Amino acid sequence: MRDSGPHPTDRRALLRFLAASPLMAGFHALPRWLEWGRQETDIITAAKDALDVFDFEAVAKKNLSPAHFGYLQTGTDDDATIAANREGFNRYQLRMRRLADIGKIDMSVKVLGANWANPVFLCPIASHCAFHPDGEIAVARGAKAGNHLFMLATPATTSVEEVNAARGEPVWFQLYPRNDWNQTHQMIKRAEAAGCPVLVYTVDLIGGSNRLTGTRARRRDPATCTDCHEGGLNDNSRKPMIADLKPAPPAPEAGPATWEFVKRLKDATPMKLVLKGIVTREDTELAVEHGVDAVYVSNHGGRAENSLRSAVECVPEVVAGAAGRAPVLVDSGFRRGTDIFKALALGATAVGVGRPYIWGLAAFGQEGVEAVLNILRRELQMVMRQAGTSTVGKITKASIIDRRGGTY
Ligand SMILES: Cc1cc2nc3c(=O)[nH]c(=O)nc-3n(C[C@H](O)[C@H](O)[C@H](O)COP(=O)(O)O)c2cc1C
Repeated sequence: MRDSGPHPTDRRALLRFLAASPLMAGFHALPRWLEWGRQETDIITAAKDALDVFDFEAVAKKNLSPAHFGYLQTGTDDDATIAANREGFNRYQLRMRRLADIGKIDMSVKVLGANWANPVFLCPIASHCAFHPDGEIAVARGAKAGNHLFMLATPATTSVEEVNAARGEPVWFQLYPRNDWNQTHQMIKRAEAAGCPVLVYTVDLIGGSNRLTGTRARRRDPATCTDCHEGGLNDNSRKPMIADLKPAPPAPEAGPATWEFVKRLKDATPMKLVLKGIVTREDTELAVEHGVDAVYVSNHGGRAENSLRSAVECVPEVVAGAAGRAPVLVDSGFRRGTDIFKALALGATAVGVGRPYIWGLAAFGQEGVEAVLNILRRELQMVMRQAGTSTVGKITKASIIDRRGGTY
């Protein structure tokens, strides 16, 4: 398709000319319709009108309370790692190949023995009902419509059994362990009994995170949080995967979260084990040595620590550490088909999206989730066609250039 937008220099010349023109006398600023690109006032009113996933962000902001939107958007410290996650993609350019046969594009991938229709999955995110009353059920149905893997978070506001029914197949279960090993064990066994094939242990918040934007937004919110969160913000009564856990004797301490604990998890369940939040070659090697089945690169969407390191730039060293012994998943900052394409080219097997599907949920419920996922699939398909890569397997290191010329 031809790029039909005005050339930037023509545009600037036009704006300069109009600004100087007597026609504009009396105008303090250029009228909005003369400015290009996304405007604050470009708020869509139907999911079908969205041009990209960011169109849902503005609607989510409008629909949510400041406290809930702040919880969704926050990073840590000054949120600079959120920005770094986006900037990381600019490091990689695409090498487009022409005239390859792109009549049929196959986006399918194989992950831990399962066939996925496409490489895009929905990251585990807590408390979907804070963003829309249909919560995780709407998300599971949206994931089903687009044939995406969904990972359910420990602090979900819907049970794993209900979510599996809505998704039409078992989801992967994300684990935040409890201090009491018995409770952790109960949670694992519940996910296992529900048929979840994979346990995703999140390891990137063990030291705590400094979420200032979220705290500020909560202070700004005129609502009284305890009107809904009756037992305070840490009240788990609306989180069915945690609410029913009972300390049962004997209740040994879970022990420190170390590689020993990874071994304990492995021994506790036949489910496959994924570590979420790995960002280095060394930890990838340790993960593989400890029998971990897949490594999941993530900085929690810039809400773990302010490392200033984008997730996509961590992929090459993690892929090198895995050395073909375990698949590598990645999330944090993925918003466009080209972002997904770049991670696949760097050796990732699948790519997770977090906030974008919640923007869709908060904006239009299930329809919004479906629309976000549609856009991502459509964009990925388009860049695959443009790059002459008719299958995911054809997306390789030769499909991109690292501006810094790194070797891995
Ligand atoms: C509001 C919110 C809640 C989250 N809750 C969890 C969670 O319960 N467990 C978890 O492993 N990750 C959680 N994450 C991190 C996501 O799984 C994922 O790593 C991140 O959202 C990806 O980055 P992105 O939002 O830039 O796409 C959460 C992220 C957000 C934004």
